[in-house]
Amino acid sequence: MEKLRARDRIAELTEVLNYHNKRYYQDAEPEISDFEFDQLVLELAQLENEFPEFLDPDSPTQRVGGSITREFIPVVHQTAFLSLANSYSTEDLDEFDERIRKSVNVNFTYAAELKFDGVAIGIIYRNGLLHQAVTRGDGAQGDDVTENVKTIRNIPIRLKGNNWPEELEVRGEIFMPLKSFERLNDSRRAELEDTGYNEDQIAEKLFKNPRNAAAGSLKMQESAEVAKRRLDAFIYLVLGEDPSLEPTHLGRLEQAKNWGLPVSDHKKSCHTLDELMQFINYWEQKRSELPFDIDGIVLKVNELSVQRSLGSTAKSPRWAIAYKYKAERVSTILQKITYQVGRTG
Ligand code: IVH
Repeated sequence: MEKLRARDRIAELTEVLNYHNKRYYQDAEPEISDFEFDQLVLELAQLENEFPEFLDPDSPTQRVGGSITREFIPVVHQTAFLSLANSYSTEDLDEFDERIRKSVNVNFTYAAELKFDGVAIGIIYRNGLLHQAVTRGDGAQGDDVTENVKTIRNIPIRLKGNNWPEELEVRGEIFMPLKSFERLNDSRRAELEDTGYNEDQIAEKLFKNPRNAAAGSLKMQESAEVAKRRLDAFIYLVLGEDPSLEPTHLGRLEQAKNWGLPVSDHKKSCHTLDELMQFINYWEQKRSELPFDIDGIVLKVNELSVQRSLGSTAKSPRWAIAYKYKAERVSTILQKITYQVGRTG
């Protein structure tokens, strides 16, 4: 193809693919099949290969993967990944609220949001470009899974706008939507049946739940395979002290959303525990209608100044707590029990 026509076609394909990406991820109303989408990506990749001068670092092709990671390099987190204390009742939440009110003497509000059931991730942007994505690991140190995270279509490789800090770290959850999970297990089942496995062996080899499938996918060595798994993500924390960052958690999430980062709309600012309980009860009823798994609600103090004065214990921040729902799928068949004498007798 002649150079100028190639340039125009690359621009056209980029626009079309970005549009379909938005229909798929933001609007949840895809207009074309995954196959048709992949064909367009392939056409674009071939053109960019032929005319590398027109390759944009945030082209939709940069997500199809292709790199192979032999070993995931360990990375020490600049800010430790803490976990959340759990609560299971209104009384637990009352106690949490009382403890905070005793220790700080200012007015504050809460942000309530969904607790996504996936794998925690920290993503660092430098000068607006995705620089590194690291798993939680043991909290102090995780694995560099940047190439695999770049295949997740709703995580921007380049942030929108220009008012982001030079160095920005966001934290969030990578998960496998229920549809992707079913599709993955269906195709695994078909392959296993073709190979002659029996029902018990197949059940053993299928992913048990979307969380395991997401965790397994993120640690695959071939990023092109990860791209096929159709993972998804939500950002739930914006770290840092840069003066350009908003002074509230919800304000920062709004900034993150404007920079093109995936932020869930299912969150609420709460002034009272009654309001919070309404949010909890609402999502307990509605969670089965969501296209992904949640295992509870997270409650966070909204004002960062109050968060700072509360601080953290060695394990978890004093300004946040998880409210856990009862597991939705609890049935399990105990097939065998084996006894062993332990090391200490
Ligand atoms: S905030 C400092 N918000 O729950 C605490 N965590 O132990 C930062 N999770 O594996 C966590 N949804 O990845 C926060 N909306 C949400 C979340 C969330 C899911 C996960 C998190 C971690 C666990 C907390």
